[in-house]
Amino acid sequence: MDPDRLDEAPLWRAWVEARRRLGSGELRPFTIPGHKHHLDLIGEIVAGDVPLYGGLAPVREADALVRRAEARTAERFGADWCRYSVGGSTHGNQALLMAVGRPGDSVVVDRTSHRSVLLGLVLAGLRPVWVRPPIHRETGLPLGIEPSTVAEALQRHPDACAVVVTSPSYVGTCADVSALSDVTRAAGVPLVVDAAWGAHLGSHPDLPPHPFAAGADAVVASAHKTLPALNQGAVVLARTRRLDPERLDRAMEATATTSPSGAILAGVDAAMALMAARGEQLTGALLERARRARDVLRAVPGLVVPDGTGLGAFDGAKLVLLLAGTGADGLAVDQDLTGQGFALEMADRDLLVPMVTVADDEQAVADLARALAAAIEQGRGEPRPVSAHAAWALAAEQVLTPREAFFADREPVPWEAAAERVCAEVVAPYPPGVPVLAPGERITREAQDALRAARDQGARIAYAADPTLATVLTVASGAHSGFGVGVGAGVGVGP
Ligand SMILES: Cc1ncc(COP(=O)(O)O)c(C=O)c1O
Repeated sequence: MDPDRLDEAPLWRAWVEARRRLGSGELRPFTIPGHKHHLDLIGEIVAGDVPLYGGLAPVREADALVRRAEARTAERFGADWCRYSVGGSTHGNQALLMAVGRPGDSVVVDRTSHRSVLLGLVLAGLRPVWVRPPIHRETGLPLGIEPSTVAEALQRHPDACAVVVTSPSYVGTCADVSALSDVTRAAGVPLVVDAAWGAHLGSHPDLPPHPFAAGADAVVASAHKTLPALNQGAVVLARTRRLDPERLDRAMEATATTSPSGAILAGVDAAMALMAARGEQLTGALLERARRARDVLRAVPGLVVPDGTGLGAFDGAKLVLLLAGTGADGLAVDQDLTGQGFALEMADRDLLVPMVTVADDEQAVADLARALAAAIEQGRGEPRPVSAHAAWALAAEQVLTPREAFFADREPVPWEAAAERVCAEVVAPYPPGVPVLAPGERITREAQDALRAARDQGARIAYAADPTLATVLTVASGAHSGFGVGVGAGVGVGP
């Protein structure tokens, strides 16, 4: 990276200066972290690990330095409030849910949300009114949540304190955030968008707008996913007309580490400055590479590689490979690619998502596309009908609030005997990490079959106490009665 282009990133500059002073012996740290930048103890792994406090700035000045950097990013987006996080979008989602309401309040939530939103509901004690996106018939992909769905949910639950949706989805489909914000503005509630995969949106005219520019009241974005920041780096933006800045501050603090990595914060700051300075150029090149990769892949008969046609707003930088028409098994293709040194972001039987970012040069993306095309050809088989991923397609009945189920007495139940019981844990094929079963939901045969099918196809079952799915944690019999809210009372069930 050219340091001159990052003069708008005060945290990044502070990190460079701290490294220089540590290297020259001008700065002698008697603070954490305990490695003290010595590479001879546990090795290179600590290189660059400068803390915020006592590293990027003296302890008493560090918060003000971070606020200055965040204010610059807020200004770039036209936000009233901005916070960087070293806890990923997970931290941002949990904090925003703690900022929008009070325990017992209803909140309209996208059921295809990441588990961090679900855990945010647990922390905040909110009651979800689930809404679901339509599924695109030809591809099985989830589309953006429709404004009419949100309007209807708000009509049924006029006391809802907020609307929380995910956009873009894991597979690049985006909601019409502008139309959603018209609905939420008319209802007087804040619209929160989990844009963990959308930090780059709006940086090029061929991309959907950034959800914040499109009118969301609060947006969470992982700088480490689509931008070249360190793992865990994230940004939260808000406008404070319908959100209380003091609550936002408190919620963000309550869920944050007190020992933030200065390196991660500096990486977020640098990524923000980089995109402000060169975002259109970098993303333009990325979109072109993704387009060329799609052209190569589409030469494989039966392989579908969406570019957004017919899917509404779509992140054209996202490569999504739908394998059903080729008969190839995505997990075998993944293994083949792994053998060649390629690591893919997601693979299951029907879907592959290699993550391509502004950091990948033309050669790397071309090599990837060629290797994928060859491996799919090699694994070609009997075409399968298109089916939607269980995480996007299943309906759920919420019996207890997520918080009630989380704190309930729990008991493992043999899988075969668990139907109709109330689930007490998150069970999600990962990626995408969207729960098929979540705390407080009735366990249906449909969900069980979908999870076992995913397991049998080789998917990793995440978060579950028993990932083999021989048992599932349920709310203990009789445990419901101990709660202030009875079974089903006021808990919204999605349309
Ligand atoms: C939609 C969505 N939201 C939030 C997260 C959590 O992001 P992070 O890993 O930055 O905590 C993820 C992670 O994959 C995600 O897919």
